[in-house]
Amino acid sequence: MPYPYKVPDLPYPYEALEPHIDTATMHFHHDKHHLAYVTNLNNALANYPDQQARPLLELLADLNSVPEAIRTAVRNHGGGHVNHTLFWEIMGPNAGGEPSGALADAIAAKFGSFESFKDQFTKAAMGVFGSGWAWLSLDANGELVLSTTPNQDTPISAGLIPLMGVDVWEHSYYLKYQNLRGEYLKAWWNVVNWDAVAVNYTAARVAVGLANVVDRLAAAWERLVAKLA
Ligand SMILES: [Fe+2]
Repeated sequence: MPYPYKVPDLPYPYEALEPHIDTATMHFHHDKHHLAYVTNLNNALANYPDQQARPLLELLADLNSVPEAIRTAVRNHGGGHVNHTLFWEIMGPNAGGEPSGALADAIAAKFGSFESFKDQFTKAAMGVFGSGWAWLSLDANGELVLSTTPNQDTPISAGLIPLMGVDVWEHSYYLKYQNLRGEYLKAWWNVVNWDAVAVNYTAARVAVGLANVVDRLAAAWERLVAKLA
């Protein structure tokens, strides 16, 4: 997704997540809120061609490398863009239920059972004070990690690869559920697209595996150079 960034189309119609996530919320959330993050991100980067040329995920993974004048804007609006892009992808119609395969095994191994994971994830999402997200991510050791972030901070900035996340900003549920975040979360599990999360899990494991190979090669190279010196 190169600069200037664009809001991706939803991978399904606006009404596809009814009755769990209503059509009006999807329009506002995708067409107004996500667009605002993208517009503000593009504006922040407008006078920084060097930063425009870098992958957005690289900026978010190393925020300290972003010029201070636009660091907060990249953190908030770049985070908003990648978080929402992932959010649309891990939801879908005729979804919900439980994961299967390697992802199901990993969740059971880490959290005891799928039900226990669901419970812990929901509690984490309920516990976010104000606006933010709850996440399931993969860490650099290939372990599943449950975490929350405030505002539009992304797990990427904490060295994690997010597999799925739930938006608990009020803009994601207020029209239908008003202040009842718990009711929204209960409904949200019915639209989680586990096939999409499983694809993210596989991709993240490959990425972690490749990074480890690169690290081992770099270490081997350093040992070789040290011997030759
Ligand atoms: Fe949102």
